[in-house]
Amino acid sequence: MEIRTRGEACGKVILFGEHFVVHGVPAIAAGISNKTTVEVEPSSEMLFIPGNQRTIPELTYRSINNVLSAMGIKGNFKVTLGGDLPTAGGLGSSAAFCVALAIAFAKQAGLTLSKEQINNFAYEGEKAFHGNPSGIDNVLATYGGVMTYTRGTTSKENKFEPLRTVGRFYLTVGITGKSSPTVAMVSKVGDFKKTKPDEFAELAKKAEKIVSEAEDSLFSGNMERLGALMNENELLLEALGVVSAENIKIINSARGAGALGAKITGGGGGGCCIAIAKDKTHAEQILVAIRKEGFDGFITTVG
Ligand code: PMV
Repeated sequence: MEIRTRGEACGKVILFGEHFVVHGVPAIAAGISNKTTVEVEPSSEMLFIPGNQRTIPELTYRSINNVLSAMGIKGNFKVTLGGDLPTAGGLGSSAAFCVALAIAFAKQAGLTLSKEQINNFAYEGEKAFHGNPSGIDNVLATYGGVMTYTRGTTSKENKFEPLRTVGRFYLTVGITGKSSPTVAMVSKVGDFKKTKPDEFAELAKKAEKIVSEAEDSLFSGNMERLGALMNENELLLEALGVVSAENIKIINSARGAGALGAKITGGGGGGCCIAIAKDKTHAEQILVAIRKEGFDGFITTVG
């Protein structure tokens, strides 16, 4: 058996429908080219090495324990985080970590796992980070591609379906540098729904329509329409109160640089934003504009 084993998984962006997806509305998400890697080896005590990434050790240790106990593996391990997926919030880095962990632990235990098993074990790890995750992040980290995801009333009823897209497209990701726990943003939206049920229902209806139109635009490769739908989706997220001043600055600078559309991605309240570019050169121009505003970012591909 190998002493040191490795797992890797991709990050994701939510193109349409974050937050509403927690409440049963379909969402579209895509695996991105940036990956998280995890190396695991037996150790005398449980040890997590975050490398140069910003992490929350308490939650990370809890997620490692959740994955191990779901897999029925006993013992202590040294877990080293790596890869080029920033733990910047909104990019599914916690889910990618859990999927990579399940793969690396399976190799430690000599287990051959199906994707479904990996996804289920990773979901247990995700609970440590998110409390009540919709499951969309671990699905994308496990399967990649572009998917429509719908949460069921039980996790067995969660549905995901790969979407056909016309070719690849480029996204510029803007990083606010402001960390905002997803769990706090999800609970903020939960309060919104409780206190303003009619307003929430109206927004959710609009989100559902956007997702359905976005499926058509992805299929036909209508990038202009896709960008316009992103801008519409952003307005709904602003109405929910999950968009910070930093998010707005990034979104405005991306739009100023001619982005076809821009919005937050994931939990919001900081974290990351995405902007659709016409091509790679345009994605680089958008990145320059975002950097001029004092934010970091990177270019990634989808499709
Ligand atoms: O911020 P992230 O990458 O963890 O994405 C969270 C997405 C939400 O829809 C806000 C929550 C969820 O569990 O789907």
